[in-house]
Amino acid sequence: VPIKRDLSKRHLNVPEYFAKNVDRILNFEGRDDDTYVVTQPKCGTTWMLETAWLVLNDFDFEKGSTTILQDRAPYLEFNTNNKRFESKMNTLNILKELKSPRLIKSHLSASVLPTDLWKKKSKVIYVARNVKDAFVSAYHFWTGIGVISISIEEYAEMFLNDRSILHPFWEHSLEFYEMRNEPNIYFTSYERMSKDLRTVIKDLCVFLGKPIPDEIILDEAERHLSFESMKNSLAGKLLQEAENSNNDFFIKNSLKEKFEFLRKGKVGSFKKELSEDIIRKFDEWEERKLKVAGVTREELY
Ligand code: A3P
Repeated sequence: VPIKRDLSKRHLNVPEYFAKNVDRILNFEGRDDDTYVVTQPKCGTTWMLETAWLVLNDFDFEKGSTTILQDRAPYLEFNTNNKRFESKMNTLNILKELKSPRLIKSHLSASVLPTDLWKKKSKVIYVARNVKDAFVSAYHFWTGIGVISISIEEYAEMFLNDRSILHPFWEHSLEFYEMRNEPNIYFTSYERMSKDLRTVIKDLCVFLGKPIPDEIILDEAERHLSFESMKNSLAGKLLQEAENSNNDFFIKNSLKEKFEFLRKGKVGSFKKELSEDIIRKFDEWEERKLKVAGVTREELY
């Protein structure tokens, strides 16, 4: 095992659909050429999956804008009876049938990702995001698909106490940050993607062993990956529809009419949504956690 992992750190607040399948996921049969995109929810998973998919698939813009991302990059631990998966029952079976090289989405922390990932040195792309935007995005998402029905202040209390789904927040990102120099890990952030997507694309080409394409393709890739085109393409519409159907899985009929999966797509959108009091609590929390870890905000995101 190339990377030291503490298996006692199964500290994740996992939803039932994962907990039921923990052993099947740990024993999931990996392949040497698997690529994982690992994130916490709402930290840029979809954006990075689309970016990595393009790099792995010779920048096939046509397929990327017309076929649903969930089929191109299945969600490892989402073993559900969700309508979309009825025919095949669960994503582990879908992944088994998927052609190599596979692109796999996961929100799991290092300790509960499949053992094969570490043995076979599959590649992992990790995306971190600043905590306040991640929080605001998560609030709208969980509310939108009907998982929670509480005020933003109440959700802040949950989040700040690591009682939100798939937390603890800091430990998740910091664990991968510590592994950032491992040859099979590429660590980046939503903020870096927003600031300089081109560099991230080029880095990924190197990381995934692909040639860096010419400038014209890179221009097209940036257009393809823009918030507007990912939201408005056929693939974007299919993605939205599939996310809406989460609602059948969680709480029926609570879907807000205007739930938008690609919501704002900005850095700093928390400023318009959070009170000074909540901002202060998040800043204090962040400062305390990063100080203990000896990491600066800029290093992390
Ligand atoms: P906001 O809610 O702040 O808009 P995830 O894919 O991990 O669920 O993350 C979702 C967040 O990424 C949402 O953030 C969404 O709008 C943003 N996002 C998705 N695609 C994007 C893109 N192409 N450009 C910028 N942001 C994007």
